[in-house]
Amino acid sequence: MASGEVTRAVETLRRGGLVALPTETVYGLGADAENELAVRRIFAVKGRPSTHPLIVHLARREAMTQWATNITLAAESLARTFWPGPLTLVLKRTGKASDAITGGQDTVALRVPNHPLALAVLDAFGGGIAAPSANRFGHVSPTTAEHVRADLGSEVDLVLDGGPCEVGLESTIVDVSGETVRVLRPGAISRDDVARIVGRPVVMGAADADLRAPGMLQSHYAPRAGVCVVPAAKLADEAARQVAHGLHRVAVLSPQPLTLPDGATHIAVPADAQSLGRQLYATLRSLDEQGYEVIVVALPDDAGFGQALRDRLTKAAAPRERR
Ligand code: TXA
Ligand code: MG
Repeated sequence: MASGEVTRAVETLRRGGLVALPTETVYGLGADAENELAVRRIFAVKGRPSTHPLIVHLARREAMTQWATNITLAAESLARTFWPGPLTLVLKRTGKASDAITGGQDTVALRVPNHPLALAVLDAFGGGIAAPSANRFGHVSPTTAEHVRADLGSEVDLVLDGGPCEVGLESTIVDVSGETVRVLRPGAISRDDVARIVGRPVVMGAADADLRAPGMLQSHYAPRAGVCVVPAAKLADEAARQVAHGLHRVAVLSPQPLTLPDGATHIAVPADAQSLGRQLYATLRSLDEQGYEVIVVALPDDAGFGQALRDRLTKAAAPRERR
């Protein structure tokens, strides 16, 4: 790891700049979490509503008590088991977490990412780094440094290249701020993984229809092309339907070759959910670049990593309000 890069990143953060950082999930757009002006710049650069709270990234679990209070046994066990890793915990905040980060809520989201470069920067910086995914608001998250440059370009002071992200989908967000443990966003760590550690049932989804909770916005994680999610057995039928509607740049994602009408193209993708998750966002971006109008993809099984894939694909397929 080039330590010069780490030093530059720390200097940039200290003077209130923005640093794009690789993590094991997706690339983040980082700022000093205690510098309110820097945090506000994240929202401006992303085009993200200021009520949408950010995750504070930490170098180690022990730093959790600086940012959060009322840390329950469930929270403690989850942090011990899964950090560093693709898990974000929502907890009651301390005064250190400003309204700029939390969107005015009384909770804060915390995560220790599992990427050597991110951990080196966090360790050398010493404080928390507030970072959302380093994409324009509503677009698919970046899983390479190139994706970050394509979305945010010169508006980021420094982009650290840590290679393609190992997980490829955003972290599992678990709300441990109340009695009931809730998964607000599925990720590589499944609901069952969480339930096993906390030793009681875990609820999927937020307590109320709060717009600030992830997933409540419909058109998230979306490429430019339309996305159509259907049962695997219906892929060819759906492609034919799209072509019959006059579309002639239809991409059909499937592990197996299919018999497709003219105008539809088979795009080979991995059969297992984990590998598909790793390359999903890169594939969606690449299909956009190639000018596809519609992407037809099979609905994954609702188990393990498949839960996260289903969530992202369903949101990519949801009606788009803002474009
Ligand atoms: O894997 C990830 O989590 C990546 C990497 C960079 O760590 N980050 C990421 O950040 O996906 P972002 O901002 O794109 O998504 C974070 C989600 C948002 O949907 C936000 O609503 C939710 O976390 N969130 C943040 N603070 C929250 C809070 N206090 N309560 C509920 N949800 C919160
Ligand atoms: Mg995001």
